[in-house]
Amino acid sequence: MAHVLLIGNGAREHAIAEAIAGSQRSPRLYAFMKTNNPGIASLAEGTRIGRYNDLESIIAFAKEAKIDFAVVGPEDPLGHGVVDALLAAGVPAVGPTKALARLETSKSFTRNLLEKYRIPGNPCFRNFTSLDGIEAFFEGLTGIVLKPDGLTGGKGVLVQGDHFETPAEALDHCRAIFKDHPGLTVEEKLEGEEFSLQCFSDGRTVVATPPVQDHKRRFAGDRGPNTGGMGSYSCADHLLPFLDADAVSQGLEITRKVAAAIREETGVPYRGIMYGGFMITASGVKLIEYNARLGDPEAMNILPLLKTDFIDLCQAILSGGLDRLDIAFDRKATVCKYVVPKGYGLPADHPEAASTSSRIEIGPVQGARLYYSSIDRRSDGLYMTSSRAIGVVGIAADLPEAERIAERAVSAIRGPVDHRPDIGTEPLVRRRVDHMRQIKANTSHK
Ligand code: AMP
Ligand code: GLY
Repeated sequence: MAHVLLIGNGAREHAIAEAIAGSQRSPRLYAFMKTNNPGIASLAEGTRIGRYNDLESIIAFAKEAKIDFAVVGPEDPLGHGVVDALLAAGVPAVGPTKALARLETSKSFTRNLLEKYRIPGNPCFRNFTSLDGIEAFFEGLTGIVLKPDGLTGGKGVLVQGDHFETPAEALDHCRAIFKDHPGLTVEEKLEGEEFSLQCFSDGRTVVATPPVQDHKRRFAGDRGPNTGGMGSYSCADHLLPFLDADAVSQGLEITRKVAAAIREETGVPYRGIMYGGFMITASGVKLIEYNARLGDPEAMNILPLLKTDFIDLCQAILSGGLDRLDIAFDRKATVCKYVVPKGYGLPADHPEAASTSSRIEIGPVQGARLYYSSIDRRSDGLYMTSSRAIGVVGIAADLPEAERIAERAVSAIRGPVDHRPDIGTEPLVRRRVDHMRQIKANTSHK
């Protein structure tokens, strides 16, 4: 009977906890969390609350609970080197060491790796450690994107047209970025539709999960500020309406080459999740970024579809046996909608900025799955904090039905909450398809 340590406290980790608890291998789940997640706690034998940079407490908890292996949910503990500490204490972990997590924590590491190993997918880019030469580099780009080096919680990237307009404004942003960050990647702005391809890697074999499309913008119609992700969908054919099998293979092929390049570069196999954020453009699939963990919300789309026993999957990742495991997903569509406090994602000085500690009530959710994120269970009920509160997932034979299930469940959650009603709906999906068609048509006329 495996004793499994889960590190993390969000809805993504609630979905991971469910996958662990649903295993036929009768594992015992222990959770180390930053704040108590009542959904995870209800599935766990034991929990510990602490900080993700407090490696001593994490190791002490792992020893007390006689942990056989760990699964790391979020990027923060990976960036702090939790996997290195666990390995030193004799506990294998699904998740990369600190050096390998640079795939996510250092944009320049990843861009350089692709370039050095001649892996396709990079846009035109250059890494800078000072302002020297930046303006000249801007001149050669049709659109500018600025990426600070280091973890920024998904909110550090600045895109021309979204966050600034002119090269002069871009230069001001660069100045500000160098105050907090040692480096900066400047790259060309790509045009297309984004998709998330979350892959399992044992260092030699890389297996893709169904592609998912996330929605970062806070409001319907892709308006408002970027957030951690307001919701996501996946389709029954394991493609997306604007993405064919060839494009998915391109993303997987890039990821396989990156896994091999990391092994070659560091001598260490990458054991964990390689989540490629890709964009399909007129000239094929391009890499936006890698994450060293499952997506939040995207984990909630793929884990409920996984037919393979999750403990077998983790053990195959750890032992290098992914090539011998049959990994299968239900051929169903999924729609995840995040229920958030009304003020979520708004600037702190905005009158409607997230109020903390609002109570919510959950009515009957008929067939949907709920994954708790920033939810506090008190004696008199459930309270939100200022962050995303509950991931609501509908699963069905097709996208419209999955969307209806999710939407019905969202309306059963009462309180000062908001969500994006458009995620997974036909008009929004059609816009994505039309967008891609338009990009391809424009290019063929040039
Ligand atoms: P990140 O914080 O790395 O997840 O990036 C945030 C968002 O910035 C991505 O989801 C893209 O929408 C956008 N982005 C990043 N790089 C590029 C690029 N080279 N071209 C266009 N958009 C980009
Ligand atoms: N959904 C975006 C992320 O997990 O980074």
